[in-house]
Amino acid sequence: MSRTNARGSEGATRTAEPSHPLKPLDVRSVGTSPQRLDGPEKVTGTARYAWEHPLSAPLYAHPLQAAVARGRVVVMDTGQAEALDGVLAVLTPYNAPRLADTDDPELAVLQSEEVAFRGQFIGAVVAETPEIARHAAGLVDVAYEQQPHDTELRADRPDLYRPEVVNPTYETDTEDGDVEAALAAAPVSVDVTYSTPMEHNNPMEPHTCVAVWEASEDDGAGPQLTLYDSTQGAHRVRETLAPLFELAPESVRVISPHVGGGFGSKGMPHAHNVLAVLAAKVSGGRPVKLALTRQQMFSLAGYRTPTVQRLRLGADTGGRLTALSHDVVEQTARFKEFAEQTGVASRMMYAAGNRGTSHRLAALDVPVPSWMRAPGEAPGMFAAEAAMDELALACGIDPIELRVRNEPETDPETGRPWSGRHLVRCLRTGAERFGWDRRAEPGTRREGDWLIGLGVASSTYPAYAFPGSVAEVERRTNGDGGPDGYAVRIGAADIGTGTWTVLTQIAADALNCPFEEVHLEIGDTGLPMGTVAGGSSGVSSWGSTVVAASRAFREEHGDDPVPGARTRAEMPSDPELRNYSAHSFGAQFAEVRVHADTGEVRVPRMLGVFSTGRIINPRTARSQFIGGMVMGMSMALFEESVLDHGTGHVVNHDFAQYHIPTCADVLDVDAVWLDEPDPHANPMGSKGIGEIGIVGAPAAVVNAVHNATGIRVRDLPVTPDKLL
Ligand code: MOS
Repeated sequence: MSRTNARGSEGATRTAEPSHPLKPLDVRSVGTSPQRLDGPEKVTGTARYAWEHPLSAPLYAHPLQAAVARGRVVVMDTGQAEALDGVLAVLTPYNAPRLADTDDPELAVLQSEEVAFRGQFIGAVVAETPEIARHAAGLVDVAYEQQPHDTELRADRPDLYRPEVVNPTYETDTEDGDVEAALAAAPVSVDVTYSTPMEHNNPMEPHTCVAVWEASEDDGAGPQLTLYDSTQGAHRVRETLAPLFELAPESVRVISPHVGGGFGSKGMPHAHNVLAVLAAKVSGGRPVKLALTRQQMFSLAGYRTPTVQRLRLGADTGGRLTALSHDVVEQTARFKEFAEQTGVASRMMYAAGNRGTSHRLAALDVPVPSWMRAPGEAPGMFAAEAAMDELALACGIDPIELRVRNEPETDPETGRPWSGRHLVRCLRTGAERFGWDRRAEPGTRREGDWLIGLGVASSTYPAYAFPGSVAEVERRTNGDGGPDGYAVRIGAADIGTGTWTVLTQIAADALNCPFEEVHLEIGDTGLPMGTVAGGSSGVSSWGSTVVAASRAFREEHGDDPVPGARTRAEMPSDPELRNYSAHSFGAQFAEVRVHADTGEVRVPRMLGVFSTGRIINPRTARSQFIGGMVMGMSMALFEESVLDHGTGHVVNHDFAQYHIPTCADVLDVDAVWLDEPDPHANPMGSKGIGEIGIVGAPAAVVNAVHNATGIRVRDLPVTPDKLL
């Protein structure tokens, strides 16, 4: 089957409003596990990632990065670099093309001599080979006027401030009832502070942008920009970059059929996209390839803010929460704000009558933090679910029972009914499957030199769907003129998650045709608008849109459509869902073994039980869940970006020093789910699954470490020194 990405032609299409946006899909292919459609191309090396598209006579850009954390560039001596054979240009703040729009400081690349963080782009060498470009970059002499910098997050900083909103538009602070009074009156309480470190997204494929700038022809069409980009949202890249270069969006095409992971770091264009286009503007029409090195990714692709989180829980002697307070301190960049929504899950998680949350930021001379798998929920639920474990101990109640006793009937924050909250079933199912009854008192179970413990934590993630996607369905014929199926076009993204496969399944069911007759086209702004693969919203948003377009197509063209018949539809709005509180839930279980002499932690078993509505494809879903759980285990035990405050530099900026799990660390990791379609979510009955796997997993591991050792580690990661 062909899955090339053609530009959808705009002319002959009609838009139709589907009659029943929520009418459940009749499922046949959905719920089965076809193998990944993109699998053969990937394992044979023929799937084209951004770097790999064949282009004639490409050039290569290598960035120059600031060696100070704050100040300004005063001299750049580029003579030696420019004299090198094979060097075409050296871009600096002095000679780089001007941008038409510099409102986003992160994207105002080379527009001033100011340095806002160490590692910021201050130039680039454009050369015939990557090796020449990199070598030449080392020959550029830079002098700085340095200013004092400050990169240290502490909860007692006097300059913490309250942001207007937290990501993306949540309230900064909330207060329901009287938290202080309820805490003071509570017979049992915990007041504990947790911290999580700076962590860096490290998708396998480094951030890559290949830019082709074709200057105006005489036909008056103006310049055309084509980007081969590693992105979670091709249309978002186009909409963001076009105004910077004074281009109409239609003059920009972004192509990204295959993307090697993102975890949020490719959810929006970053500075390297702009740098690639600036280089392409001075390359005489030749394509320019730019891929960040692994080390450069630690300055330029976003990261998870470090957090300091104070949790105060008050309960009656039966473990029923009367007060829950979650106060967060985290960092942002002085030059651009990002406020992670770390406390938001605490607003809806448990039935505490009095609840308060707050977020405070320190503005530092650091790169701007950004999205990293479950921003907000991942660090926030680490602290909140570890605190629940501490409360269970304080009350003398089993941690699962404690959570069951605090199960809210409706969303405590909004008062709305749940659109499927099956947390208790997840916890009970997991307890049964995991052998929770074998859990012993803390520090009492030992096999040889190893202390053994079990831990549990709840998991949750909002069920997002973002409006704006458009899908097109066209009746297709093969070369002989006979019908051979349908082209389904939408600018969706597959970042390794399974989009190619699951959207094909959804389309097949919506069109009432075999899986093999759907010819999906995604990953290209030449296709109808697709929203970003972020917030675990992708399949909910694009799938609903594909269903709407398929239904509209069948209404318009009947059961025997003529070749070329074509219909477009937008993602239907869903007024009903607004009456519900829509989240996914899960229960995370971990078994750990801690070496009594060395403090080494092993995780022989993890189990996640998830309630995320209908599972579209068990094979790809399982991969999402266990991938998230492994990333959660990694957060618990390994990941920590070490920022040297003297230089403002992340010193462990490679895989030798930034530790992530290897296959030897990942033992028996299992994910199961309650297969229960959520009728309020969308026609598929599904909710997103990309992020919930990481949420709660760190707390399950840390709670298990406590159960094994009796030692409560409140600052991640749990390295052996903290257990000795
Ligand atoms: Mo996800 S961090 O919203 O890509």
